[in-house]
Amino acid sequence: EHLAGHLPTHMKGLDEALCGGIPFGVLTELVGPAGIGKTQFCLKLSLLASLPANYGGLDGHVIYIDVESKFSSRRLIEIGVKSFPEIFHRKEMAQEMAGRIHVLRPASLSEFTESLQQIKVSLLQNQVKLLVIDSMAALVTGEFEHGAPRQKTLGWHVSFIKSLAEFSRIPVVVTNQVRSQSRDETCHYFFQVQSWNETIEDRTRHDSHLVAALGINWAHAVTIRLVLEAKSGQRFIKVAKSPIAPPLAFPFNITSSGILL
Ligand code: GTP
Repeated sequence: EHLAGHLPTHMKGLDEALCGGIPFGVLTELVGPAGIGKTQFCLKLSLLASLPANYGGLDGHVIYIDVESKFSSRRLIEIGVKSFPEIFHRKEMAQEMAGRIHVLRPASLSEFTESLQQIKVSLLQNQVKLLVIDSMAALVTGEFEHGAPRQKTLGWHVSFIKSLAEFSRIPVVVTNQVRSQSRDETCHYFFQVQSWNETIEDRTRHDSHLVAALGINWAHAVTIRLVLEAKSGQRFIKVAKSPIAPPLAFPFNITSSGILL
């Protein structure tokens, strides 16, 4: 296998920084405010995981947990047609690619919990090459309004999802929305926070809103964290946590071809 354990994002700078792309076997988190492009990123990754290997894909299936009904096959096909016309202009190929992406829409945390068991079985069959959860935070809002039970429950979920990544050795990508009081504040916050030597406690303090939703276990469980943000009308993707990459930021755009550096 030439893949060396990564799903390339086809965003050159980002793939270089991550030594090949989104790594297999660990959790990668996409964090950012509403509308920044987390779902668009997940759609692109899903497409890339399903594509044949000679197009830089993983030739696999994808399990996409679509908590907020944001997945769009129409949009997926559009990105496919624009980015890989040779494949997506052939209707049966386009359908096959789209058919490899299995979308689950759990209506509650308990439904999600049940689906995790099914996912584990699917992962044993070895065809699934990407698991997306969009979004994790949305799963818990509404069901558990108060601190203690939620954190306990999620601790179990976090460990389970991490173990799924480890045993199946596929990339697991999870989105989370950060609440922004104002756009400027969010940007300022992200640009100054992510120095390389910060401790997990520092990071956690800064991300206290996320921690309130997902618990401290979450911050520890994530291996790669990519922060999406906007500053002066330009979107950036930033490698905010990584065992290997320096804290680089790359400008990106969202076009009809999807997310592009
Ligand atoms: P939340 O789920 O609300 O946290 O947002 P998100 O970060 O997942 O944002 P999402 O990925 O949904 O990105 C929304 C942005 O993507 C929009 O502001 C548009 O700029 C862009 N976008 C979404 N759909 C399309 C499309 O069909 N064509 C183009 N050109 N851009 C799109």
